[in-house]
Amino acid sequence: MIAATVGSAVGLGNIWRFPYEAGVHGGGAFLIVNIIFVLLLGIPVICAEFLIGRHSGADVCNAFSRFKRGRSWRFIGWMGLCASILILGFYSVVAGWTVYYIIQSIQGFEHVHNADDLHNMFVQFSSNGWMPLLWTVVFLAINFLVLIRGVEKGIEKMSNILLPALFVILIAFTVNSLLLPEAGSGLEFLFKPDFSAITPSVLLGALGQAFFSLSLGLGCLITYASYFKPETPLVKTASISALLDTMVAILAGMIIFPAVFTFGQEPAAGPQLVFEVLPSIFMNMPGGMIWSILFFVLLFVASLTSTISLFETATAFLIGRGIKRFKAVCITMAVVLCLGVVCSLSFGPLADATIFGFNFFDFSDYVSSNILLPLGGMCSSIFVGWIVERKVVNAELLGTSTSTFKLAVVKAIIFSLRYIAPTGIGLVFVFGLL
Ligand code: TRP
Repeated sequence: MIAATVGSAVGLGNIWRFPYEAGVHGGGAFLIVNIIFVLLLGIPVICAEFLIGRHSGADVCNAFSRFKRGRSWRFIGWMGLCASILILGFYSVVAGWTVYYIIQSIQGFEHVHNADDLHNMFVQFSSNGWMPLLWTVVFLAINFLVLIRGVEKGIEKMSNILLPALFVILIAFTVNSLLLPEAGSGLEFLFKPDFSAITPSVLLGALGQAFFSLSLGLGCLITYASYFKPETPLVKTASISALLDTMVAILAGMIIFPAVFTFGQEPAAGPQLVFEVLPSIFMNMPGGMIWSILFFVLLFVASLTSTISLFETATAFLIGRGIKRFKAVCITMAVVLCLGVVCSLSFGPLADATIFGFNFFDFSDYVSSNILLPLGGMCSSIFVGWIVERKVVNAELLGTSTSTFKLAVVKAIIFSLRYIAPTGIGLVFVFGLL
């Protein structure tokens, strides 16, 4: 299940959302805060979710009840259910765009000659109403087929092939981007932190991005860890997953930003950033069409391994409440489909319908990533740090190891779960939301 866990983490969150958020929040400052959050809060909270999942061997609905004094923490499961469905709503829309861009790649991006054309192409497509909806539905239908067959084996196998392939292609693109004329400006934007740009909203954005990208905060990792073997090393798996995930995001940034500056595009373009920038890279590469198809196909598979993990969390929850698998899949799918329709239309006919000033797409993203996920992570860390018996925590995190290094790492993780994670997340909330 380890490959599946990394497969869940690596997805649109790294390649689409990270560059878009970094672009909006000032580049280097965002990256550095994001990395600090991954190390200080991300890895410990991943360990907390792993521990809850493996010790209970249960889904998010029942996991907490299997611990002493855990019953009253079951609300985390409900919060996770809501968050996973909200995320699936907008994620499927973006995954649908990926399918459309595979088709466009096969047609060689006809009628597109420069950055303006790419921008117009995206706007025309996304605001069209029916077209993006169609691809969202296609994407969800593929999810449905995978889900009703039961997933573990297929996803593990798919991730085993996908992840190395994705790495290789990302490195090839990074090299290509580093050779672009304005590579220096792009790297400076991504890596040179302007500390004065760190505002409460940058902090909240970076926190949300860390949780989103690590698949953290809604019990997804609880569900996956319930399939882990007793000997799977939790701390090591958590660290590897966080490391690979962050590397993919940084590579994505190193591909996108040099191109943004070279082709005169706008780093703060928002959700459409990578869809407007990537094709300009491909169009300027030898054999661009093949690269482009390959890239979007891999991105599509990466999003599929992530959405399957989200669906699996929600359906396992319903199955845990006594609903049959097929029915659970249908219910989740139906709700996600409705949300997906609304999110997709918020780029066109529903653009003016807003909640607290956000359109539906941005609202689902903001509420789930910046509020529900960190809140879920905060509760899980308090649960493991303060409620779960220390001997259970030690047995899960330490196993039978007596190495002093491991002991120190586990101590640091427990310290973070008790103090740093709850107060850190709490403070970011207080400043970012008020
Ligand atoms: N981490 C995935 C990505 O980067 C998305 C994802 C999958 C997710 N499962 C999750 C996000 C659980 C939050 C919680 O694309």
